[in-house]
Amino acid sequence: MKFFVDTADVAEIKDLAATGLLDGVTTNPSLIKKAGRDFKEVIAEICGIVDGPVSAEVVAMDFDGMKRQGDELVKIAKNVCIKVPLTIDGLKACKYFTDKGTQVNVTLCFSAAQAILAAKAGATFISPFVGRLDDIGQDGMELISDIVEIYNNYQEFTTEVLVASVRNPMHVVLAAKLGAHVATIPANVIKQLALHPLTDKGLDQFNKDWAATGQKL
Ligand code: G3P
Repeated sequence: MKFFVDTADVAEIKDLAATGLLDGVTTNPSLIKKAGRDFKEVIAEICGIVDGPVSAEVVAMDFDGMKRQGDELVKIAKNVCIKVPLTIDGLKACKYFTDKGTQVNVTLCFSAAQAILAAKAGATFISPFVGRLDDIGQDGMELISDIVEIYNNYQEFTTEVLVASVRNPMHVVLAAKLGAHVATIPANVIKQLALHPLTDKGLDQFNKDWAATGQKL
């Protein structure tokens, strides 16, 4: 299972890249706003830190605009993955970029029907937003289960399921149990994955016992 971090914060990305856990990065216009920096500059910097795909999202609503913006973004680095919305124009743009050999992440997916269209358009990644479905009282992970099942039915569907809008460690664990290829996770949730009270308690005891031995290492 691949881990992407869902952030445009370069310091956070550097910190996580050092753990060896990072396989890629996803950004979106809201994360760029939060970073408060120039979009293309940030994407260039991130691409220099992480070898894997770095999603950069187009903001045009029409195919021609998406094509123009995406063509600019791919010039930044070879690991830029163009992120397009799950609309008919977005799917056209998906086909345009994948035909050129550029990786594409189709975002804002909230149904299995939409995921089928993205696979047919040749998307590299489909991004179903589990947290936002949970927020409206639906089961985000059920959507992941449906998409994984559907994609597994068709050898010609090579699109990877990229679980997005991840809010807690259980989203990651359930995604892994369902066989999702990727989860894009906020940095704080990646760190939460490492936590367990018994780990802390055990370490505390080991440290006390080691100190009691009087030995040095
Ligand atoms: O990058 C897309 C997605 O992960 C956004 O998450 O928490 O804003 O729903 P969230």
